[in-house]
Amino acid sequence: MSKTVILTGLRANGEFHLGNYLGAILPVVQLQKQHAGEYQVNMFVPDLHSIVTPVEHGTLYQQSIDNLKVFVAAGLDIANQDTYIYRQSRVPAHSELAWILDCFTYFGELNRMTQFKDKSAQLTDDKTQSESSISAGLFNYPVLMAADILLYGAEYIPVGEDQRQHIELTRDVAIRMNNRFGDMFVVPHEWSKQLEFTKLDKGVRIRSLRNPEKKMSKSVEDPAGTIMLSDLPEEAVKKVSSATTDSLGSINYDWGKQPGVTNLLQILALLRDVSQNEVNEQWKGKTNYGELKDAVAEAVKACLSEIQGKLSKVNDQEILVKLEEDEVKMNQIANQTLSDVQKKIGLRP
Ligand code: ADP
Ligand code: TRP
Repeated sequence: MSKTVILTGLRANGEFHLGNYLGAILPVVQLQKQHAGEYQVNMFVPDLHSIVTPVEHGTLYQQSIDNLKVFVAAGLDIANQDTYIYRQSRVPAHSELAWILDCFTYFGELNRMTQFKDKSAQLTDDKTQSESSISAGLFNYPVLMAADILLYGAEYIPVGEDQRQHIELTRDVAIRMNNRFGDMFVVPHEWSKQLEFTKLDKGVRIRSLRNPEKKMSKSVEDPAGTIMLSDLPEEAVKKVSSATTDSLGSINYDWGKQPGVTNLLQILALLRDVSQNEVNEQWKGKTNYGELKDAVAEAVKACLSEIQGKLSKVNDQEILVKLEEDEVKMNQIANQTLSDVQKKIGLRP
């Protein structure tokens, strides 16, 4: 029996921030630690997804390698026999299956995707872009994502809340094709099961330190609200110290009334790897916001120092050796699925 597959990818567009780390990188590292030996972990770089919006093509290649190095620095054990790392562009079956799935995905379904609406609105807001710079690739993004998942029969897909619709679309298309052609795909679990698996009651969404109504993001105008994993630890401490809070004067976990303070409580719980409840109880009703900021700053500083220290020891060569080895294996698995699909839809005898 082959092992159940946990699969995730992270776009290689520039450097990572604390939101990417807590929302996407850390959950995979923790899942790997908890389930080593029991599950197969596919951690890939969706480099074809990177080019759906304008990027710096000159650094794209190196960016993939650099991002994988961050995963290793964050604790991903690539020596683990059940863990595979690979670049999407090196496994051509992803693009081929995406085309086939495209023909069984409805225009209306893709048109409802909020990420497409948000990202295309961002592009048209940007005065240097015109509507014509919204690529068909951006529209088709979720279909390629479905191919990424279905090729390997992955059941668990740890991603942030913003990717939920894409997981649901993947399920819809897989179920549709299974109904039409007989068992073709393993259908990934529904969202509630995904959350149960990662032991989170709701998807992680870290907010900007300056504007806690918005998510922490590399594209937010105010860089003081975003902690980059490459920030000097002292620089990050300053960002935490000047985080926006409120004037209520009492610490409570409440996204509606105290989003700034609540964001800090969330960051603290995730960085210390203790439950949100425990952290909330510990701080509940306290009045000194400075003290909370100091605790968060301390945790952020320790996290950045550790990751940066480890990063300086990971070299490109060890990543490349593992990538090339795993890409051979992934091509075998992906081509097998693709060939089955081609048979079932009548492209092969
Ligand atoms: P950005 O918003 O910075 O452009 P991406 O959209 O490229 O980031 O997201 C990459 C991954 O990181 C996704 O899986 C997403 O869920 C996760 N992620 C991004 N920002 C956050 C955040 N603020 N909180 C939690 N997870 C996040
Ligand atoms: N869309 C994901 C992101 O923005 C990246 C991604 C591409 C992905 N294909 C995937 C994640 C398949 C999980 C599974 O980060």
